[in-house]
Amino acid sequence: MTLADLPQTDIDIFGDATLRDPNPVWTTIRELGSVVYLSSRDTWLITRYEEVRDTLSDWESFTSAKGTVYSDEMSAMLGETPLTTDPPLHDNLRGVLSDKLAPRALRKLNAHITERADLLVSEAVEAGTIEAMDGLCKRLPVDIVADLIGLPVEGREILLPGAEAMFCTFGPYDERLLAKMPAIEEFVGYMNHVTSRDVLQPDSWGTAILDAVDDGRIQQEHAVPLMSAYLIAGMDTTVHTLGFYLKNLVENPSAWAALKEDPTLIGSGFEETVRLGSPVQLSYRVTTRDVEMGGQVLPANRRIILGTGAANRDPRHYENPDTFDIRRNPVDHLALGYATHACAGQGLARLEAKALITSLLNRVESLDLVGEIEGQSHVPGFAGISRLPLQLNALRN
Ligand code: HEM
Repeated sequence: MTLADLPQTDIDIFGDATLRDPNPVWTTIRELGSVVYLSSRDTWLITRYEEVRDTLSDWESFTSAKGTVYSDEMSAMLGETPLTTDPPLHDNLRGVLSDKLAPRALRKLNAHITERADLLVSEAVEAGTIEAMDGLCKRLPVDIVADLIGLPVEGREILLPGAEAMFCTFGPYDERLLAKMPAIEEFVGYMNHVTSRDVLQPDSWGTAILDAVDDGRIQQEHAVPLMSAYLIAGMDTTVHTLGFYLKNLVENPSAWAALKEDPTLIGSGFEETVRLGSPVQLSYRVTTRDVEMGGQVLPANRRIILGTGAANRDPRHYENPDTFDIRRNPVDHLALGYATHACAGQGLARLEAKALITSLLNRVESLDLVGEIEGQSHVPGFAGISRLPLQLNALRN
């Protein structure tokens, strides 16, 4: 077999059309093979569920320490965090906040998150018609994560645009990323300023990181990247997951009715939402050896792209994969990663979604779409919603 016989395509997975609506592109590429050579980018995309999961499970063959973003330029600039390291350093860095994100600690946060969600939903119901990304989805995760890290209330307006710009660093080093550089620099300056005991709230995630530096568990140079990593990872991802959840409910009135009848389905709805439309569509690793997969040889020391979004809709693994089924409860999806690098904040994200949807079910009879939903298309490898106009029809007492 020659190279030309192996599955390959010249589709640009970072083109505007793909970013706006990646799923048709994933369907096309996934049917070419489980590992497909992308000629326009001179790299490989892993497309199918089993192979993506196998890759995520094998950190020794697919390292995170040589780059978990697409470009060499940005890989060289990003600091060491749980996402960008392998064990044992990975476990050490991740261990700093693991108690704070364990189920016991999360249970203690529940009342605070519920209170915030109730307040936001009451305001939204009062308004009746809202742009739900600005009115609900962006507000809850930003407040919650910023409070947990211990950031001052003043200056928080930088957080969401800063985190979004930082997410662009995962994609190609091109005009799109260069346009975000001023926002990235501003965000880095902000993080350098706030990573100090004078600024952070006591007993916060932020001071826990500084404690770990003081007692020698991590190096000083890890403090800012670690705090930034949790802050960045904890905002946009959850913002767009909440947006996708509301989109799925307004587009599927039977799912809303099912939740009304049985609110214990909220968790299943969360898993199905991220399976169907995960904000994180792509992850990156570098091969440490020649790896045979899907009939191809992935050479050593090459950056490989993992199509987690494509894998989550692989018909070999999920029946009717493009359908939102509130009862499916697909707990084995890869939208929150898998194995060593599985999302450290997934319990918190589930808690926030549960609080928001519960609050809506308690106050709203039905949801109507009152305009067009617009997808987000400017963050490569990432899916999101930029506009979600909703009417919330209040429950009559
Ligand atoms: C629904 C919302 C979320 C989604 C879809 C999501 C998705 C992901 C994914 C796919 C990964 C693995 C990336 C890879 O292997 O390359 C990951 C890792 C991570 N996430 Fe999340 N995430 C969410 C919420 C959060 C929250 C709320 C936090 C913290 C406050 C957080 C913190 C992290 C961290 C620290 C990692 C790195 C873990 C490691 O490498 O060991 N995430 N997330």
